[in-house]
Amino acid sequence: NRIDWDVQSAQKGGHKHFMIKEIFEQPKVIADCLAGRVDLKTGTVRLPELEGLTSPKRLHIVACGTSFHAGLWGMNLLESWARIPVRVEIASEFRYRDLLLDEDDVILAISQSGETADTLAGIRRAKQMGASVIGLCNVVGSSVARESDHVIYTQAGPEISVASTKAMCSQLTALYLLALHWGAQKGTLSAEVTQQGIAAVHELPGLLDAELPAMRERSKELARKYSGVSSFMYLGRGLNFPLALEGALKLKEISYIHAEGYASGEMKHGPIALIERDFPTFALAMRDDLLPKVKSNLEEVQARDGRIIALTNPGLDMGVDDAWVIPEVWGPLSAFLALPCLQLFAYEVADYLGKDVDQPRNLAKSVTVE
Ligand code: G6P
Repeated sequence: NRIDWDVQSAQKGGHKHFMIKEIFEQPKVIADCLAGRVDLKTGTVRLPELEGLTSPKRLHIVACGTSFHAGLWGMNLLESWARIPVRVEIASEFRYRDLLLDEDDVILAISQSGETADTLAGIRRAKQMGASVIGLCNVVGSSVARESDHVIYTQAGPEISVASTKAMCSQLTALYLLALHWGAQKGTLSAEVTQQGIAAVHELPGLLDAELPAMRERSKELARKYSGVSSFMYLGRGLNFPLALEGALKLKEISYIHAEGYASGEMKHGPIALIERDFPTFALAMRDDLLPKVKSNLEEVQARDGRIIALTNPGLDMGVDDAWVIPEVWGPLSAFLALPCLQLFAYEVADYLGKDVDQPRNLAKSVTVE
């Protein structure tokens, strides 16, 4: 008897691709990123990596690709909880701008690999101007980590799939902790909310782990239904806007279906011209203060006979073609349930179409040249 196996398939742990394996690792990724950093008893966050650094006067998040989307999400929390003015910039733009930086500015460079050329160049310029740099990296000892004044490791483990999934989940977790940490340090966030935030994120790995199989089933059904389309619109507002960008990026990266992520409110300024009978929109419509606004944007799509998948929560009657109902969780944590849905949908579409999911054409895991 001969057993056929190779190292790659052994490492995939029974999964067809690294991407799906890594999507399913996300509950553990959250737990690993939290490990040692949250104290449930005292309701506090510990980030010894930032010792000696007071909360920044101004923060500039610099990143590329999926890491840039994580940064956009983090901006909302850092501004709202820690009241720190934040700019989020694409590294390839930041590095060539006529920057206005001094010793009061802190750069947060987000990079899974820590080797992205533009991000590295961005932090070098910022350091020359006297700014300090925090690296948010996954790869230990990477160039971004070595050149930063402080490093927070995301502890997601090796990410093999070119399309980034679990790395973003770990970046969101770290950004969440950072916003809680600075919010508590500055006193802009009450002890009560900090404690709630810590208790809620602690519950997340178990909840996500229980939900992932059903999410996969739903993503398969929807992928079969929508895989024939040539273009997709992703819409979200507020904290869901960066997720709309990320959902569209994932779909185009691995299925090669054209997709655009837009802030829902910006639809009327152009993209609505694309909507005609059956044009598909993927809406992030979870319960939050902006939901009524999102709903009215979706009505505009329906008035033009477009089709809608809406990622939503129980009890919200969206009246769309395909509601995808996920549990409601505390505050901004809904991102941690929405993100795997977006990843799974892109994955199942690409797999259904027979694409090379782990090695999409023209893309590299780490872009070390300009
Ligand atoms: C490449 C990868 C993306 C990644 C981006 C930034 O384009 O294909 O998945 O998001 O680089 O990479 P980094 O390692 O800096 O996070």
